Amino acid sequence: MSRLSTIDPTISVANKTLDRQHLTVLNLSELTLNLGCGDRKENFKKFNKNLYEFHLRMLDHFYTEEEILASHGFPNIAEHIAEHNQYIERLSYLFFDASNGVIDHARLKYCLSDWLSRHLLESDMQYGELLRRN
Ligand SMILES: [Fe+2]
Ligand SMILES: [Fe+2]
Repeated sequence: MSRLSTIDPTISVANKTLDRQHLTVLNLSELTLNLGCGDRKENFKKFNKNLYEFHLRMLDHFYTEEEILASHGFPNIAEHIAEHNQYIERLSYLFFDASNGVIDHARLKYCLSDWLSRHLLESDMQYGELLRRN
């Protein structure tokens, strides 16, 4: 997949800040996943740098998203925050292992592809409906 320059309207959550953050983390996840799956020795530093940035961006995104959901009175906010927290725990383990020279490829694919796309398409779209109505 090539770098996205705009968010696909079908996954827009009707908030410019959050759509921009989603675009950023999607592009960064794709880049990081490719580096992690490639020639490890050659790309290892770059992979770790990107994974570090991805981790920070996700923390920042979740913080922003949770603030916006709270301000709009999103009814499933507790469940949504719990999903974020569980994910951050998994991502932190991935980052910790990678910092020690170990790439868990199954966890890498889960965190940077499977979980992310499912969360955006299913969980985030739930509040997208609310933001669209408000
Ligand atoms: Fe979310
Ligand atoms: Fe999100």
